[in-house]
Amino acid sequence: MKRHFLTLWDVTEEEIWALIERAQVLKKACREGSPIQTLRGKVLGLLFLKPSTRTRVSFEAGMYRLGGQCIFMTSRETQLARKEPLSDTARVLSRYIDALVVRTYGHHEVEELARYSTIPVINGLTDLYHPCQVLSDIMTVWEKKGSFDFPIAWVGDGNNVAHSWIVASARLGLTLRVATPKGYEPDKSIVERALREGKGRIELLNDPVKAVEGAQVVNTDVWASMGQEDEAEARREVFRPYQVNEGLLKHAHPEAIVMHCLPAHRGEEITDEVMERYGSVIFDQAENRMFAQMALLEWLLIGS
Ligand code: CP
Ligand code: NVA
Repeated sequence: MKRHFLTLWDVTEEEIWALIERAQVLKKACREGSPIQTLRGKVLGLLFLKPSTRTRVSFEAGMYRLGGQCIFMTSRETQLARKEPLSDTARVLSRYIDALVVRTYGHHEVEELARYSTIPVINGLTDLYHPCQVLSDIMTVWEKKGSFDFPIAWVGDGNNVAHSWIVASARLGLTLRVATPKGYEPDKSIVERALREGKGRIELLNDPVKAVEGAQVVNTDVWASMGQEDEAEARREVFRPYQVNEGLLKHAHPEAIVMHCLPAHRGEEITDEVMERYGSVIFDQAENRMFAQMALLEWLLIGS
């Protein structure tokens, strides 16, 4: 049966752990230089309406490492630029390729593509969610800590990455404390569904110190996401007390790790000092995108 990966609600808890287990096997194989040809003959399309370094390159490199091929498209070079409907685009692309990664603005756009696709559609980031990011973040926390038996803090904007953490918390039963400025809280309906259907302990706060107290994972993201460039200056003022700096981290668990999906705006949501001190985790986090997505591609394309 064809499956999509638009949010972490699209996978069960067991499936998340199976993906992470497979990602670790693939990571080891890649490190050892063992050939993996599970997706030989398969073609992955990538349709990106926003910039990307990690998502694009980790998907493309991962697909090549599995023996497959990729076609990268932007809206400018496709007929989307001339208003061809997403529903037609989805039906046509489904005839050529085996799966499609989409990065766009409105979440309804990936939903529309998925509705009309006969191939798996993967959300490579929308304004609402970034499930590939958080799937690999879960892998990174597991690698670094070997447990989830502690509070995880989110400090900053209640945005797409925060939303995916909320769904992960609901699915996996994590303790998540989200500290945002007033007016920048996560989407109410996402939080409500997580509380209604999930088993996470999710707390919404406005105080970053309370969020990080005793936390073993401190997560942040840019203050102005792609598409919010016009708000960047105003946001810099509002978010200033939410900077992840050495002062804030004094309140976290002494063995806390800091995570950032990248790209980082040093001097804004995270200081240069913290980026450098915790960089080994942050860049491992970026690296794990490739292995988690390789596992995801295998699972969606060949069901294992
Ligand atoms: N974290 C992430 O998705 O990075 P890119 O925007 O570079 O893909
Ligand atoms: N919240 C950020 C994440 C970038 C990976 C954005 O949407 O721009």
